[in-house]
Amino acid sequence: VSDAAVPKRGTVVAIDGPAGAGKSTLAAALSRALDLPYVNTGLMYRALTRVALERGIDVDDAGALGSLALEIAGRFRIGGGAHPELVADGIVPRSLTSPDVESEVSRVARHPPVRSVMRELQRRLGAAGTVMEGRDIGTVVFPDADVKIFLLAAPGVRVTRRQSERPDGRSAEQVARAVARRDALDSKTNPLEAAPDAHVLDTTGLTREQVVAESLRLVHSTLRATVHHGGSES
Ligand code: DC
Repeated sequence: VSDAAVPKRGTVVAIDGPAGAGKSTLAAALSRALDLPYVNTGLMYRALTRVALERGIDVDDAGALGSLALEIAGRFRIGGGAHPELVADGIVPRSLTSPDVESEVSRVARHPPVRSVMRELQRRLGAAGTVMEGRDIGTVVFPDADVKIFLLAAPGVRVTRRQSERPDGRSAEQVARAVARRDALDSKTNPLEAAPDAHVLDTTGLTREQVVAESLRLVHSTLRATVHHGGSES
């Protein structure tokens, strides 16, 4: 491989889409295949929500939540090991999917002061290359990401996936209601849309392996095209 094929900054793969579309599964698999750190940005909003709830901070208090985001920013880092990924120091991972966090995280995530702190943090964490997953990664955080994938899935499929990934004894109806409620909240506060240059992938009828294989194909063909068309400028 010639020098022209080596990107100047780290390669950024942005994965966006609604809850339960398969983002985390895909992002983790791609990060391993491409040997890039995995950053799940939902975890950051959840961690902030966890700490805010513990301290009794009002989820409508944009200023207090923005300050709290700045205060805990240093806890987020890329861990070590064979498969580096985002970790939040001092926060028990299981506490991030508890019902109180699930029900409040959208409200915490909607405040502009919170989002601007998170955006800068995410840019810093991903600067050396990353597979980053969230809602606004390809649109706001890394509008110049090398590859953007936007995942979709039919509502019923998203409910089934949420249930199997977080077995907590809730019925399909309960999970369906929770997913519908969070969609409604998420879309009100932070409209979810694909970047114009994102590859939209509907995962409804696909297995996990098919989604990963199709995405890897997209990543490789997009990176090749970028090198051919943009290589001479750099
Ligand atoms: O992907 P998730 O379900 O873990 O996300 C948790 C919440 O955080 C969800 O309500 C949307 C919000 N979020 C966001 O606003 N922006 C992101 N980049 C990631 C998540």
